[in-house]
Amino acid sequence: YGKLNYIVQKWSNISAFCPDPSDMLIATYPKAGTTWTQEIVDLLLHNGDEEACKRASTSDRFPFLEIQYPPPIPSGLDLLKNMKPPRVIKTHLPIQLVPKGFWENKCKVIYVARNAKDNLVSYYHFDRMNQAQPQPGPWEEYIQKFMRGKVAWGSWYDHVKDYWKEREKRNILYLFFEDLKKVAWVPHAFRSGVSNRIVQLTSFKNMRDNPMANYTFIPKIMFDHSISPFMRRGEVGDWTNHFTPAQSQMFDEDYARQMADVDIPFCTSI
Ligand SMILES: *[C@@H]1O[C@H](CO)[C@@H](O)[C@H](O)[C@H]1NC(C)=O
Repeated sequence: YGKLNYIVQKWSNISAFCPDPSDMLIATYPKAGTTWTQEIVDLLLHNGDEEACKRASTSDRFPFLEIQYPPPIPSGLDLLKNMKPPRVIKTHLPIQLVPKGFWENKCKVIYVARNAKDNLVSYYHFDRMNQAQPQPGPWEEYIQKFMRGKVAWGSWYDHVKDYWKEREKRNILYLFFEDLKKVAWVPHAFRSGVSNRIVQLTSFKNMRDNPMANYTFIPKIMFDHSISPFMRRGEVGDWTNHFTPAQSQMFDEDYARQMADVDIPFCTSI
């Protein structure tokens, strides 16, 4: 867990980070639609101006709060030091670990959740191509690791539940990946010019072909797109191409136990 070790070493600095009240936080479990949401938010903040949103890579436009690389690659905190508020900050931290300054300063927080099975499939392929994270191992074993939270950033179940339980008290905008997909179904005539543009610019195909968003700006020794591209499919329901019926049943039974204390309206097909 090379990358995670660096995070642990710098934890006191990360935890002490104090945002400006004008800063915004985009929080997600990995592979739940983070890059997509970042692009949508950036376009909204720039009134749909495509060129403005290509001013820099996703990593440089949205400091990744907790990320730490071996020097000289700048950490999230390094980027934040050199950027003036208002900033749009990315995190994968579980809610308990989000620096308390975000809550004290009442920063706007957007959380995006994706159904467990698609999130798992996406994470599996991401762990194959991301050389800074532990290799996923065989698919069958990966399902077990995911169910037990033995993956980077921990349990999906706790992550989505803990933000859900706090969403009203802490004024978190809790969105679903699947709902974002459905936005593209709204007939053109019902959307304004700007929202039409944003839907088009953030389609899967446009995101995949956008060199400032498709993560080819990360060196190949870290992200190897020849194993699996960062922008792989971006669909709802791809899990059906991975889970056998027996795996799906086993996963669902465990899911019912782990999610028994909440009623989060996830959907696994649209
Ligand atoms: C990233 O975008 C560039 C420019 O459009 C494109 O040539 C490349 O194929 C994309 N890479 C991946 C892995 O999607």
